[in-house]
Amino acid sequence: MGYVRRPYDLNADDVYVDLGEVLDRPVIVKCESFNFAGSVKLKAAVSMVTAAEADGRLRPDSVIVESSSGNLGVALSVVAASRGYGFVCVTDPRSSVQNRRQIEALGGQVIVVTEPDGDHGFLGSRLRRVRHLCENNPDYVWLNQYANEHNWRAHYTTTAPEIVRRVPGLDVLFVGAGTTGTLTGCARYLRDIGHPAQVIAVDSIGSVTFGGLPSPRYIPGLGTGKRPEIVDESVIDDIVMVAELDTIRMCRTLAGAGFLFGGSTSTVLVGAQRWLAANGGPATCAVAISPDLGERYLDTIYNDMWVAEHFGAEFLASLRPGPSEPDVRPGELISPLVGGV
Ligand SMILES: Cc1ncc(COP(=O)(O)O)c(C=O)c1O
Repeated sequence: MGYVRRPYDLNADDVYVDLGEVLDRPVIVKCESFNFAGSVKLKAAVSMVTAAEADGRLRPDSVIVESSSGNLGVALSVVAASRGYGFVCVTDPRSSVQNRRQIEALGGQVIVVTEPDGDHGFLGSRLRRVRHLCENNPDYVWLNQYANEHNWRAHYTTTAPEIVRRVPGLDVLFVGAGTTGTLTGCARYLRDIGHPAQVIAVDSIGSVTFGGLPSPRYIPGLGTGKRPEIVDESVIDDIVMVAELDTIRMCRTLAGAGFLFGGSTSTVLVGAQRWLAANGGPATCAVAISPDLGERYLDTIYNDMWVAEHFGAEFLASLRPGPSEPDVRPGELISPLVGGV
């Protein structure tokens, strides 16, 4: 490889982790986190910005505006800084402080909405604020990751072909659903080339994407409070819904083996484990996509106080190998929550 000249030129597409020993089931994890934005969202960011430049929506004085709980915000701030655009990220109080700081360090502006919308929660409020900003600022361009075809196309042209090349015997692919860009792009590609692999969507309980009832969620990345326009159930074979308790348990188990993954990775792996237990065999060749690593969740998923505050001291104690008391003092400040895409 030559030198990296633009931050988005580096995106490792060949990192696959065999978690068979840890999960007690053969699952290969394709890691999408080894790039300067630290997550799978770099692909969507580059794809949507490039398309908006090509169709003339983005001009040199444009300001990109987007609703994001973090990872797309970080990725867009990387691309915007590199290509000379302004960037405004509209988020909510549940986004991680670390992601907000990273966006600001890259020159972006962060706006935090404080009131959830009655019907669609914080996502509804964020979208309303984005629309309002665009109405009042003619230079603002909203890429709208929930409806933008170049979100899923990024995975149609990169992620899915990468997996097919690297894992020719693929039987089943597990993909988490946020905007469903990764899911829809990968599933459409496999269908279009006539690949026999099944595609299983994994989502968080409390998400409305596949018609479930909304309920509070604290772990960002997967799930929505408003069905994304780009979701396409016709190309997926099954859906597994996972509780956040199981996500946290899986994160801690993987960390115990030295793999510090983000929450959505663990959600997908819980879904994979369950689905394979019911439908897989010893020779089933399974791949799961990992959107990011765990260092951006040190104040939440990997923080005992946060876990105790949101899921209970009893649950926290159940995560520990021996009998012990959670290290939580009543009323102690817990870092802000994260949640949604
Ligand atoms: C950590 C994490 N996991 C999963 C996803 C879901 O990806 P997609 O929006 O392609 O469905 C996101 C999206 O922001 C994410 O940040």
